[in-house]
Amino acid sequence: MSDIKYSFGLWTVGWAGRDPFGHATRPDLDPADSIRKLAELGAWGFTFHDNDVIPFDADAATRDAAIASVKKAAEETGLVCEMVTTDTFMHPIFKAGAFTSNSREIRRFGLRKVLTNVDLAAEMGATTFVMWGGREGTEYDNSKDLITAHARYAEGIDTVAAYIKSQGYDLKIGLEPKPNEPRGDIFLPTIGHAIALIDTLDNGDIVGLNPEVGHEQMAGLNYTHGIALALYAGKLFHIDLNGQHGPRYDQDLVFGHGDLLSAFFTVDLLENGAPNGGPRYEGPRHFDYKTSRTEGVAGVWESAKANMETYDLLAVKAKAYREDPEVQAAFETAGIFESAQSTLAEGETIEAFLASEETYDVAALSDRHEGLVNLHQLALKHLIG
Ligand code: GCO
Ligand code: MN
Ligand code: MN
Ligand code: MN
Repeated sequence: MSDIKYSFGLWTVGWAGRDPFGHATRPDLDPADSIRKLAELGAWGFTFHDNDVIPFDADAATRDAAIASVKKAAEETGLVCEMVTTDTFMHPIFKAGAFTSNSREIRRFGLRKVLTNVDLAAEMGATTFVMWGGREGTEYDNSKDLITAHARYAEGIDTVAAYIKSQGYDLKIGLEPKPNEPRGDIFLPTIGHAIALIDTLDNGDIVGLNPEVGHEQMAGLNYTHGIALALYAGKLFHIDLNGQHGPRYDQDLVFGHGDLLSAFFTVDLLENGAPNGGPRYEGPRHFDYKTSRTEGVAGVWESAKANMETYDLLAVKAKAYREDPEVQAAFETAGIFESAQSTLAEGETIEAFLASEETYDVAALSDRHEGLVNLHQLALKHLIG
């Protein structure tokens, strides 16, 4: 395997297969055992929700023992705990949201749970704190004052960010967009929505995104475009890689087991950067999928391995694609390098631009052939050739 830094949510391998229509199909796994097994498979890091490790109503002794067990496994294996997140969706108290619940008491309970986990994240040495608002949303548009609910969401996120700063923790927040499921409509449904909300925060400098492949695709959107926008905005703090077949329920398939071409272009952007350079994603390649419930325990580890193997294979293919002189020539024909030139020249004023006698050959420009099908076919040949 490559030396790419792969990490896994403990809830991914730990998912026992319970869904709204069926009981668990596999036994619950011990988180420390999962860490050991992931290390054996060649992973670099792991992530978890508080309640993947610590039962919701654990007393102090149970909590300490649970954390100690995970820490021990991490120390023994060298696996890095790179991200911690909070479960604000499983318990019935959160059925109508945590930060956006109409109930102030529930909001205060949720905030306390999240802040406790900020401390835990710092204690574990994590550098990212993910916030997925699974229950922040509605089924019915009149369930909440929709403007106020966004204000409460922003207040909650800002409070967490302010707390991180006040404690001097080396932590950044990654908001995770998702359009629906478990709520009919979840707030911050897409990368773009989340960026817009971050812009309203006082402490938005340490708040960015943790976009998941399948969640953008559930909204009918293009994941690679989404992470490109997040990179441009300096907000790609973390990623959740998995697979999805278009708009339907959240499949959480193994990375590449959904839209493979899209996965190829995602890996190309992550590994090779944009053709004209620009901000790069330097964080871990984090998988957030679920082992299909048809699988036995052996399938849990086959699926974990499949994520890394697929990414590795795509990374090799994407590198060869980028280095192919024919591809570079096709980039040139497409005008991709020309796109790096700013539209106005340096120092050119709008007035000077408008006053210039510049003329355009509209007919010739309309006839322009960018060779995009050829370029895409070259990518396809690298992918499956
Ligand atoms: C999903 C989400 C969740 C979150 C996780 C982190 O599949 O709907 O990805 O798995 O990533 O809860 O908070
Ligand atoms: Mn998902
Ligand atoms: Mn996720
Ligand atoms: Mn998930």
